[in-house]
Amino acid sequence: MKHLLDTKDLSREDALRLLDTAQEFSDVANRSVPKLPTLRGATMVNLFFEDSTRTRLSFEAAAKRLSADVMTFQVQGSSVSKGESLKDTAQTVEAMGADIIVMRHFASGAAHRLANSGWVEAAIINAGDGTHEHPTQALLDAATLRDRMVPEARGADVSGVHVAIVGDIAHSRVARSNVFLLNTLGAKVTVVGPPELLPTGVEDWPVTTHHDLDAVIDEGPDAVMMLRVQKERIRGDFQPASGDYVRNYCLTTGRADRLPDHAIVMHPGPMNRGVEIASDVADSSRSVIVDQVRNGVAVRMAALFDVWGGGK
Ligand code: CP
Repeated sequence: MKHLLDTKDLSREDALRLLDTAQEFSDVANRSVPKLPTLRGATMVNLFFEDSTRTRLSFEAAAKRLSADVMTFQVQGSSVSKGESLKDTAQTVEAMGADIIVMRHFASGAAHRLANSGWVEAAIINAGDGTHEHPTQALLDAATLRDRMVPEARGADVSGVHVAIVGDIAHSRVARSNVFLLNTLGAKVTVVGPPELLPTGVEDWPVTTHHDLDAVIDEGPDAVMMLRVQKERIRGDFQPASGDYVRNYCLTTGRADRLPDHAIVMHPGPMNRGVEIASDVADSSRSVIVDQVRNGVAVRMAALFDVWGGGK
């Protein structure tokens, strides 16, 4: 792969290669010196126009574990405040040696724009663009799901696994990337939320839609993925912490207790405890939220390795 921009156009073969590579890299963290020389000589730049904790730090950790050099750009404190464009910013970091640009941007389509513009030669990895996609999040979610649901994970997809994605689907790039990747990998996906938080065009997605979380819990999904309401992207007077939202869509202990014994609870983070997920559920034995973060480093090692030429 030259770039990793979305999961909608990611083939099953590419997705499985990335997951299998991540599985191989996952052991590196347990070594006394958690480093491989694989990307020695390469420079990765984190180009972040939006805030991040997990994605930015895990790309940095992934690059360092593969011995790449790392530079980090954050829009706060940069010359973007003086009017510098994306083109000029990208060409500036490439002139300083960037081979791989990992970009998070508030505009949907920004990563595609950078990859297809001819402005830079660097490989581009989309670390989240507006409400569009967040492909490495979906890959780390798939890695976590596969670890738990498919005993002989290597080479396997997640056929037949039922995943319920709950909450603010409309504004979630995590939801979009998961829907497309899980569909490619054979999972059955249900998206659940109030009508105002389901996107227009959802009827064309390869999912079942529902407004009633309790009815979906009673179907016995294998995994429930809770999403934060992205109030920073919502126009109008919708109140995510309102009693109605919490009553109808929070994964409470009572709801979690009705899931099948083997079912897992996922969340991409950051969580709003007490809104979409009860604190006790987030910290329960069903929760794989910390595993998701841990798998994020291995998946991002695989993504960096692949765009650097390792996937060929
Ligand atoms: N899941 C996720 O993208 O988290 P950050 O915004 O902290 O990177």
